[in-house]
Amino acid sequence: MKAEIIINKNYTVGKVDPRLYGSFIEHIGRAVYTGIYEPDHPTADKDGFRQDVIELVKKLNVPIVRYPGGNFVSGYNWEDGVGPKEKRPKRQELAWFTTETNQFGTDEFCTWAKKADTDVMMAVNLGTRGADDARNLVEYCNFDGDTKYAKMRKENGYDKPHDIKVWCLGNEMDGPWQICHKTAEEYGRVALESAKLMKWADSTIELVLCGSSGYNINTFGEWEWTVLNHAYNNVDYISLHTYYGNDGNDAEFLGRSVQMNEFIQGVKSICDAVKAKKHSKKTINLSFDEWNLWYHDPQRRGKDWKEICRVNEDIYNFGDALLLGCMLMTLQNNCDRVKMACLAQLVNVIAPIMTEPGGKAWCQTIFYPFMYGSNFGRGTVMNTITKCDSYKTSFANEVPYIETSVINDEEKRELHIFAVNRNLSEDMEVELTFENFGECEITEHIMLYSDDLLATNSAEEERIAPINVEVCKGKKTVHSVKLKKHSWNMIKLKY
Ligand code: AHR
Repeated sequence: MKAEIIINKNYTVGKVDPRLYGSFIEHIGRAVYTGIYEPDHPTADKDGFRQDVIELVKKLNVPIVRYPGGNFVSGYNWEDGVGPKEKRPKRQELAWFTTETNQFGTDEFCTWAKKADTDVMMAVNLGTRGADDARNLVEYCNFDGDTKYAKMRKENGYDKPHDIKVWCLGNEMDGPWQICHKTAEEYGRVALESAKLMKWADSTIELVLCGSSGYNINTFGEWEWTVLNHAYNNVDYISLHTYYGNDGNDAEFLGRSVQMNEFIQGVKSICDAVKAKKHSKKTINLSFDEWNLWYHDPQRRGKDWKEICRVNEDIYNFGDALLLGCMLMTLQNNCDRVKMACLAQLVNVIAPIMTEPGGKAWCQTIFYPFMYGSNFGRGTVMNTITKCDSYKTSFANEVPYIETSVINDEEKRELHIFAVNRNLSEDMEVELTFENFGECEITEHIMLYSDDLLATNSAEEERIAPINVEVCKGKKTVHSVKLKKHSWNMIKLKY
């Protein structure tokens, strides 16, 4: 099988916002407790943060992490999680049916984020609560004055404001499973009024409006139209969420990123239709703040109100790493409008990083395509011409056999080409033509490959890890590379 990619220096999609490589920590399962926070762990620091986990988070180079949910936030009283730990109440947690001990809260998360070299994307509760609590939390986190909540933060030991720039106006308010789910009209009004108060409390913050919790939810489209009509002038982004699963048809599964792209195009169109209707000069950008694969672990919720339970601990296989790579390329190729995205989630719960309580932290298969994408996907995304055969699925007439994204790191004068060969039985010869770059040389080719799409990693064994492929040296304007059947690849060139 053959493919051709033409990369012309003059044709670009846009600059990548580093926040495209964000992630997500929710109070769910073992994401916080025995995930990032385990005071008795041998690697824990004085704050109880696992250093082995922080090291892996740093390898992923995650610039922003969404917190504290997710579904959890729609029933959360943030005041329960601040102040002296011995005074914090335990609560019945109604999103995941566990007991929340509140031993970890807003201040701990902001401290953890600093130590992990990342920023906070904070979500407010627009389920059981509303505008008043939202503005109080902004005051608690961001205000440096002599007011009730700023003073409360200082008394809790945090003299300087946490200075959180990005805020989510609730979570998945379109979903009937949400604590205090709302209609689009109801949510649009609450979001607008909360947005006004939050920006009055701190005019420097950016706000994310809840879009649809999935492309296939029956309110999709109508929801975006209605909530944007209410809140357009007061928000900066609208959210998208998606999770895919494999029901045994690998070709269909690997094509799902094409559907993710369709979702993005749909939301862009609705944003721009509202813009036109309002004669607005402002463009709403997209925050894909939950995306991943989610289908392995049948245990979705806790049992018997346990404090810590293993739920949604999907163990990802090699096929999952391929689709995750394709999804990340899809986000990169839409970087002109998708400014932020959060891999959901970061630790233990549908996550690239896993931990054993008291034991090791280890990397799932999906860790690697994300790590390379995040570290080498910064710069300008090129608008390439890709010629290759495609196949048909139940949801798309044309899924190209090759998925690619090409990033130009102008500072280093390097091109980073990401590519997945979706063909399950044939290798692919790819001709790469470079225009207006002068001659360039391939310096590195990293591949993820296994004969077995079901291969997984574990605390004991790493079956899926990066492989170095030998490269043909030499400066040229046309190169040829081989992509093995069902493989993920990153090819670096110097120009
Ligand atoms: O990431 C897990 C859950 O998926 C989140 O809590 C929710 O927002 C989504 O439905």
